[in-house]
Amino acid sequence: MSEPTLITESAAAEVVAAALRAVAAASNSAELRVARAEFTGESSALARMNASLKAAPNDQKAALGKIVGQARGQVNTAIAAREAELVEAEETARLASEAVDVTAVATRWRPGARHPLTLLMEQMGDIFIGMGWEIAEGPELENEWFNFDAMNFDEDHPARAMQDTFFVDPVDSHLLLRTHTSPVQIRSLLDRPLPVYVVAPGRVYRTDELDATHTPVFHQIEGLAIDRGLTMANLRGTLEHLARAMFGTDAKIRLRPNYFPFTEPSAEMDVWQPNAKGGARWVEWGGCGMVNSNVLLAAGIDPNEYQGFAFGMGIERTLQFRNDMNDMRDMVEGDIRFSQQFGLVV
Ligand code: FA5
Ligand code: MG
Repeated sequence: MSEPTLITESAAAEVVAAALRAVAAASNSAELRVARAEFTGESSALARMNASLKAAPNDQKAALGKIVGQARGQVNTAIAAREAELVEAEETARLASEAVDVTAVATRWRPGARHPLTLLMEQMGDIFIGMGWEIAEGPELENEWFNFDAMNFDEDHPARAMQDTFFVDPVDSHLLLRTHTSPVQIRSLLDRPLPVYVVAPGRVYRTDELDATHTPVFHQIEGLAIDRGLTMANLRGTLEHLARAMFGTDAKIRLRPNYFPFTEPSAEMDVWQPNAKGGARWVEWGGCGMVNSNVLLAAGIDPNEYQGFAFGMGIERTLQFRNDMNDMRDMVEGDIRFSQQFGLVV
């Protein structure tokens, strides 16, 4: 056994002072636990003083016991008070760090945006719906007859060549990826009673290389009007209305004589682009013409009774002209930031 520790008021006061400093300095519960062990544990100075009471002379026991008891009481009270403070501070900090502001605007959830081409097709469709036309549809995997034969393409028309058209194996299935929306003309005429006023927006495929003004997968909107007494003037008026609705009231279009097997006469339609990079210019927007009587005959319609016009333009080109975009490749990359510029329309 070690020598009994000497109990004096000054020794006890020194221990208490050291304990109070350590307790006050503890800045969290872990530090306070260390201080508690040091000043109240079995091997602490006060515990040793307490143990030595046994060996003290009987007549001094009460006085010495009081010194030790008061010292222990002071230390324990200080520890308990500090503990209460620290627990409260730690609880407050934990609550603050776990706090959830249920009214905060979410920052990580980013809503998607519909592709501007989709929106544009809908907008163009709506312009025609506003004039009483209907929306028609046809398949992207199309029968060669609808894509070419019924549209009056010769057997050996160059557009049928493998280098322009994606044919589907086996070739004698006569299936292909439609090269334009024009097969919807014949489908609409076979499906619907006359008169017919339809537009058909949709995706088409060609073996074109991807560049600033071409993509192998693109979109067109087809228009077809078959009624009694329609003329080229109706065609022109319709196209001008569309151009103004798309590009503003100052929009100008120009028709140039051209050839399509399914229209006669045929024209290529240009639109005036005042803000084109490199200066104002005319740019091809689509094709159009009076529906060829052979197409009407293929649909079982008497060309002497009914006539009409058709047109088809590129949606990518429309977006390009409308938004002054110089490179079509941006439209097909699928970067959400591209779509978001056009607003988060759902
Ligand atoms: C046609 O596709 C005809 N079917 C249009 C038509 C319909 C004429 C009805 C008469 C009556 P064309 O091959 O010129 O025509 O294409 C029409 C438009 O599609 C072009 O003016 C252009 O705007 C767009 N286009 C054509 N090829 C591409 C391509 N690779 N990438 C993006 N747009 C294209
Ligand atoms: Mg063309």
